Amino acid sequence: MGDLAAGQRIFERKCASCHNTNGDGKTVTGGRFPYANLIDGVWRSDGSAKAIERQIRRGHDPMPKFEGKLTDEEIRQTVAYVLELFKTGSGTREAEGGKQ
Ligand code: HEC
Repeated sequence: MGDLAAGQRIFERKCASCHNTNGDGKTVTGGRFPYANLIDGVWRSDGSAKAIERQIRRGHDPMPKFEGKLTDEEIRQTVAYVLELFKTGSGTREAEGGKQ
C-alpha cells in the first residue's frame, strides 16, 4: 500500500470526525475552529510538513495528541495525506488555468 493510501485510511479513521473526510473541518467539533480547516491555505503554523507533524504528535486543544497512538511511519503517512488533501483541495485554485 502506498503512503497516501495508508495516510487516507488513518485520516478517515482518526481525523475525519473533526476535520471531515475532505479536510475542510466542517464538522460539529471542527466547525468552531478556523484552523481545523486543513485545505483553505490558512494555517496556525506555516503549513509545512514539519509543523503538521508537530501538531499531530502534540495535539492542540481540542485536538488530541497522536504521539504514541500512531507509529512514526503512520504519522509520516498521515502528514503526506494532509498535504495531498491541501493540494487537491485548495491547491487546485493555483492549478486552474494551467495545464493539468
Ligand atoms: C477531536 C477533534 C480532532 C481530531 C480527532 C483531530 N483534530 Fe486536528 N485539529 C482539530 C482542531 C479543532 C484544530 C484547530 C485547533 C487550533 O485552533 O489550534 C486542529 C488542527 C489541526 C492541524 C493544524 C492546522 C494548522 O492550521 O496549523 C493539523 C495539521 C491537524 N489538526 C491534523 C490532524 C490529523 C492529521 C488528525 C488525525 C491524526 C487530527 N488532526 C485529528 C481537531 C481535531
